[in-house]
Amino acid sequence: MPEFKGKTVLVTGASRGIGRALVEAFIAEGARVVAVARSVPADGDREESNRNVTCIACDIASGVQRAALADSIRALGRPIDILVNNAGIQRSLDLTGDDPGALCDAMETEIAVNLVAPICLTAQLMPVMARPGGTIVNVTSLVALQAKTSAPVYSASKAGFQRFTEALRRQVQPHGLRVVEVMPPLVDTAMTTGRGSRKLSPEDMAAAMLQGLVDRRERIAPGIGRMGLALNRIAPALLARIIGRQ
Ligand SMILES: NC(=O)c1ccc[n+]([C@@H]2O[C@H](COP(=O)([O-])OP(=O)(O)OC[C@H]3O[C@@H](n4cnc5c(N)ncnc54)[C@H](OP(=O)(O)O)[C@@H]3O)[C@@H](O)[C@H]2O)c1
Repeated sequence: MPEFKGKTVLVTGASRGIGRALVEAFIAEGARVVAVARSVPADGDREESNRNVTCIACDIASGVQRAALADSIRALGRPIDILVNNAGIQRSLDLTGDDPGALCDAMETEIAVNLVAPICLTAQLMPVMARPGGTIVNVTSLVALQAKTSAPVYSASKAGFQRFTEALRRQVQPHGLRVVEVMPPLVDTAMTTGRGSRKLSPEDMAAAMLQGLVDRRERIAPGIGRMGLALNRIAPALLARIIGRQ
C-alpha cells in the first residue's frame, strides 16, 4: 500500500488492542507513527524506537494533558496526514443501583474519553492537519446505531461521536480534508474480554481499516459490522434487540 509510505499518522489508544495493531500496520507500510496512550513506553524504552514511532504518554481525558499533546505535535514540525481517534473505554453501568452518586465519576470519565477528548483533539490538531489530503479517522461502534442496555453511557458517547463525525465531514471537506468513520465488529481486545465469540483479531481489524482508507471509504465496517449496518436499514427493531441484550 504505497499510499502510507512516509506519511505521518497519529493513533490514540495505541498501547493495546486495535490501536496497537494499527501502529504496527502503519509502520509496516512505511508510515511514521505518533503513538498516544496513558501507558505507552517512553521513546528510549521502546524496542521499536528506531522504527519510526514516537510515543507520547497522555491521558486524553485531561484537558491540560491534551493541550500538552497538541504542543508536542506542533513541535514535531511536520503535518499530520492521518489522525486516528481510536482510544475508548466501555463500562457496564446500572443506573438503578443504590449509589448513583458514585457512578458520576465513572460516567464523566467515559464521556470525556469517548466523546470530549476526540472532539477537542480534532479541533486542537486541525491547524497541523496536512491539507489537502489529510484524513481524520473516528472509531465509533455499532452501538452508535442501537443502544446496548448494559452500557448506556458508552452507547450515548458513541452515538454523539457519530453525529460529530458526520457534521465534521461536511465542515472540513471544502478544506481538502477527509473524514472516515470506523465501526468495528466484535474485536478480540481487553475491552471484550469474556464477551462474545467469533471475534475479529485486532490485526485483521487494522488491516481492514488500512484497506478501507486505500479504497477511500467514508465508513469502514468490516465483517459483521457491515451486516449490522444493513440490518439497521431494513429491520432496525431487530438490531435494537440484538445489540440491546449484548
Ligand atoms: N473491541 C471491540 O470489539 C470494539 C467494538 C466497537 C468499537 N470499538 C472501539 O474501538 C476502539 C479501540 O478499542 P479496543 O477494543 O482496542 O480497546 P482496548 O483494547 O481496551 O484499548 C483501549 C485503548 O484506549 C486507551 N485509553 C483508554 N483510556 C485512555 C485515556 N484516558 N487516555 C488515553 N488513552 C486511553 C488505552 O490505553 P491506556 O490504558 O494505556 O491509556 C488503550 O490503548 C475504542 O474506541 C472502542 O470503543 C471496539
